[in-house]
Amino acid sequence: MGVGILGTGHYAPDNVVTNKDLEKIVDTTDEWIRTRTGIEERRIAKDDEDSSDMAYKAAEIALNAANVSAEEIDLILVATVTPDTPFPSVACMIQDRLGAKNAAAMDLGAACAGFMYAMITGQQYIETGSYEKILIVGVDKLSKIIDWTDRNTCVLLGDGAGAAVMGKVSDGKGILSFELGANGAGGKELYQNEHDHLVMNGREVFKFAVRQMPQSSVNVIEKAGLTKEDVDYLVPHQANIRIMDAARERLGIDEDKMAKVIQKYGNNSSASIPIALSESIDQGKINDGDNIVLVGFGGGLTWGAVALKWGK
Ligand code: ACO
Repeated sequence: MGVGILGTGHYAPDNVVTNKDLEKIVDTTDEWIRTRTGIEERRIAKDDEDSSDMAYKAAEIALNAANVSAEEIDLILVATVTPDTPFPSVACMIQDRLGAKNAAAMDLGAACAGFMYAMITGQQYIETGSYEKILIVGVDKLSKIIDWTDRNTCVLLGDGAGAAVMGKVSDGKGILSFELGANGAGGKELYQNEHDHLVMNGREVFKFAVRQMPQSSVNVIEKAGLTKEDVDYLVPHQANIRIMDAARERLGIDEDKMAKVIQKYGNNSSASIPIALSESIDQGKINDGDNIVLVGFGGGLTWGAVALKWGK
């Protein structure tokens, strides 16, 4: 038996904010944002749409795609750093709305690596036989904590949610290996300050990410007993196209074999990897039996990577 993904879904708010729109509120240019980050636009939720609303929509799509009913879910894990409220958790809010009355529910936070942490936490429960079906969601409404006067951060971020239903898959498929890591000493480089604003030392985070993402990708491939040539598809955290390309080039993968949605969503933190994964599946870019690598990094500092053989 393996532990894998049975279905995915994603949701992003309708409201599109372009780089040109941001030129009107901070001293920046469309050209600077595109060339330094790869971002062209992002989605920003309205005041009456919070993390639980986006998480619920992505989760419903994932359950349908997996052909799993809400009542079959044993556990809901929501990765987020921007819950509606500290408690009740987003996981409990969507448990109620989905009607997942048999599910335990909790949030967990590892910033942009949160979905990787949720996936590996979920895997443990299934592998031990404790649970059979687990809903994992990555959601963030970063617009709540963006300082809209800080051009260093406000141009990078957006809102959205991605979800996956995890369960048993056939032998040889599903999660092949993983790596999770943290360096709390780096917490000062990316954090939420006393005004509830996201603060980032972009250069330091860039240096960390451009080293960690390629290294973690290689580590999980080796742990899985694969070589770089075996990798069919890469789903990196969508923080900056230059960081994503560093991981892609280290693996020797062509551009069309990497999930790339940063241009339309920006950095969605916990939601970034599951949105990129779900869109790739919708577009038919991931096929049964493909070896894929998911890799992320974020505030904490945290990081996580998973090698996975796609399919049930
Ligand atoms: N528009 C115009 N100029 C800008 C902007 C902007 N939006 N932002 C910064 N600049 C300026 C800087 O002030 C700096 O000017 P200076 O030289 O006069 O000081 C200049 O551009 C160059 O700044 P750098 O920091 O060297 O630019 P860099 O090429 O490194 O790009 C960036 C900055 C995009 C932030 C990059 O460092 C990066 O991507 N870092 C990692 C970010 C990240 O991945 N965060 C992840 C997590 S976010 C989360 O967890 C929710």
